[in-house]
Amino acid sequence: MIKINKKATTPLYLQIKHQFIEQIMSGFLSPGDALPSERLLAEHLCVNRSTVNKAYWELKADGFVHAHMGSGTVVSSQLGQDDNAYIPRMPWTQHMQASKRYQQTDLIKTALEAINEKDVISFAGGFAGDDALPFTAIQKMMPKLLKTYETALLHPTPLLGLPLLREAICNHLRPRGIHCQVSQCMITSGAQQALSYVSKLFLSEGDMVFVASPSYIGAIEIFKATGAKVVGIPTDKYGMNTDVLENYLLRYRPKLIYLNPNFQNPTGTYLPLERRKKLLELAYLYQIPIIEDDPYAELYFSPVPAPRLKAMDHHGYVIYIGTFSKQLFMGGRVGWLVCEEEVMRRLSELKQLTDLHANTLHQFLIATILTSGFLEEHLATLRTLMLHKRDIMVMALQSHKIEGLLFDIPEGSFYLWVKLPPHIYGHAFFETCKKLKIAVMPGDPFYPEASAQQTCVRLNYSFSTDADIIEGITRFANAIQMTSAQTKPRPSHPQNLLL
Ligand SMILES: Cc1ncc(COP(=O)(O)O)c(C=O)c1O
Repeated sequence: MIKINKKATTPLYLQIKHQFIEQIMSGFLSPGDALPSERLLAEHLCVNRSTVNKAYWELKADGFVHAHMGSGTVVSSQLGQDDNAYIPRMPWTQHMQASKRYQQTDLIKTALEAINEKDVISFAGGFAGDDALPFTAIQKMMPKLLKTYETALLHPTPLLGLPLLREAICNHLRPRGIHCQVSQCMITSGAQQALSYVSKLFLSEGDMVFVASPSYIGAIEIFKATGAKVVGIPTDKYGMNTDVLENYLLRYRPKLIYLNPNFQNPTGTYLPLERRKKLLELAYLYQIPIIEDDPYAELYFSPVPAPRLKAMDHHGYVIYIGTFSKQLFMGGRVGWLVCEEEVMRRLSELKQLTDLHANTLHQFLIATILTSGFLEEHLATLRTLMLHKRDIMVMALQSHKIEGLLFDIPEGSFYLWVKLPPHIYGHAFFETCKKLKIAVMPGDPFYPEASAQQTCVRLNYSFSTDADIIEGITRFANAIQMTSAQTKPRPSHPQNLLL
């Protein structure tokens, strides 16, 4: 069955080898079939035995055949042909880049999953519940949207996003004091993606970034993933302490300063006008870009006393990040970023490398929500509802009269930042919460460096119904009581001013 051509330029042993491989790969020879003995094949082909020997040797080395006691040379099992064949485990870690420098918490993932867990009341998330979603309005808008835009809803948009939406965002920002061109506005897949772009564009291993401490976990993790050192600037009840910031700037040159001036996540603090001015002065003096990540500005419960930083900045130092996740719905994953065109050119390169553009259908939907005037109407309803839920949670907490429990009442946004009584250890407390089926967000990961001196938790009131808020706070109070019974005084931690 093996044929050779003695006039061909391919060496004879290779001709033999290749024909056997063909027969094995095509299934003509099956695993366990014996090859003719070297002597017989050499005689049959009228070649030297060493020629056959060399062909068999290479077939063995390549794993096509092996020697078998009593049967001579037999065909080996090939991949996929024999379930019992030994295949080593893929060493994935050797293949993946060793650049994952920062071990992320799974808190965001867990918070997103907690909403589907049976019987669990979740205060861990950061988004609105069913009663706050503009579902009915969207249901009414959809037929018109489909009729008006037809197949455009299914086509790609430009890299920076749908011009209609970008223009609507510029129009929305103008009365808020931010005057930008459409070319300065990019649509992103949520504020999270905008943060990721900014961090990729500005940060490298070893750089320093200053953040309010505590700060949004998602931002801290994104910055740390670049290998940058994330330094916490302490906050008090008015947000980032700009005197401490000044002190730090005298000694260090961060690449970025990151904060949420309006109802900060997690503390809910609102940066006063004087601190805003000081922050900008410092940024101008030391030439450091400010990242104003601003998901909660519209969620105020009383008139706001200060403009956005971006509105106060007439020199283009502030990169402004916004999102519709909190003011409309999170599932659309539509956010935006406003910056100088010079920066935008580089950001658009990153966009091209990532996802080309944000989701078309949702961009059209949100553009319609903005241009129809519905957003303003919805925001008014949302503010009233969030204020009501905040009050329910505050009253529920106060009704349990938990000694040593401290919190400020925020004037906007979705969260209460609560300090547990000093003797409560985080780990034991969070385990008890799990048992009592109440999901809360532990405070420690919001600190970029060493943990806070006292165990803090972030409680979200935007997601749950009134009844669940009341029941959840009862479980929360029970968890404190049960943990108190088990714990001893807490040892003091190092302060978070590390430098
Ligand atoms: C301060 C802050 N920035 C960014 C985000 C991410 O928002 P998005 O859903 O738009 O990605 C959040 C979400 O909780 C946040 O609180």
